[in-house]
Amino acid sequence: MTPEAPARPLVSLRDLGVELGGRPILRGVTANVARGSITALIGLNGSGKTTLLRALVNEYPHKGTIQFHCGHDHTKPYPEAIGYVPQRLTLDARLPLTVADFLALTLSRRPLFFGISKATTAKSQSMLERVGVAECMNVPVEGLSGGQLQRVLLALALEPRPELLLLDEPAAGIDFNGLKKFYELIASINKELGVTVLLVSHDLNMVQTYAHDVLCLRGGSIQCQGPPSEILTPINMSLVFGTEIHMFPHRFGT
Ligand SMILES: Nc1ncnc2c1ncn2[C@@H]1O[C@H](COP(=O)(O)OP(=O)(O)OP(=O)(O)O)[C@@H](O)[C@H]1O
Ligand SMILES: [Mg+2]
Repeated sequence: MTPEAPARPLVSLRDLGVELGGRPILRGVTANVARGSITALIGLNGSGKTTLLRALVNEYPHKGTIQFHCGHDHTKPYPEAIGYVPQRLTLDARLPLTVADFLALTLSRRPLFFGISKATTAKSQSMLERVGVAECMNVPVEGLSGGQLQRVLLALALEPRPELLLLDEPAAGIDFNGLKKFYELIASINKELGVTVLLVSHDLNMVQTYAHDVLCLRGGSIQCQGPPSEILTPINMSLVFGTEIHMFPHRFGT
């Protein structure tokens, strides 16, 4: 039997450096995001995870190279074929908009005061169904729970279908029981739609269960990268987090 060829990377980072406020935040980051995989980006608060995602969507200027091997143009301010769910919403979630309005603002080119077309409503409905929050269509954005808001943002990030989905702590507002469902949704988006996922997470048990590859940042540099079984060891985790960590898998009820 011939050994399997290693998966071709969808993104390769070579000697990536980002400076913010005159301070080096990322230094010499060389890593690959494997095509078709779920790659988890882990590290302490302030280690540069969000900065790395924002460099990928051209929000921060960088040194070194970010190469996408998918034939799309990634030099534009917001590159096509990338879906991004940020760690924080920079727009005010208290906007007096329903979820239907919020989606229509992105989907439709006509001003909202003309009303939402039937086609846009149907599209929004199917986008919300895909991520399991169809019932939120007419809920004001400010009335969404943290977990519902994350799913609505995920619905937006999936339209049009991206090659690469960047998720910055997507499960931060989700309760323990919702966590498994959320990660299963991500896994099905990865498997069924063939979307490559790069996600930031502090939940090492979820990373162990759902990620194919783990990228560890420490102080803006890559500490280690590889499959969870090789990376999530007590020794590696003490190097990444500076403290001893033992993994106790979640036991979910059925
Ligand atoms: N716009 C900015 N200007 C200056 N410094 C910044 C800016 N954005 C982030 N930083 C700094 O860069 C470092 C890395 O921040 P980043 O948000 O990437 O960390 P993170 O790993 O995502 O942390 P967390 O787990 O808390 O989300 C921090 O020290 C932060 O203060
Ligand atoms: Mg962050």
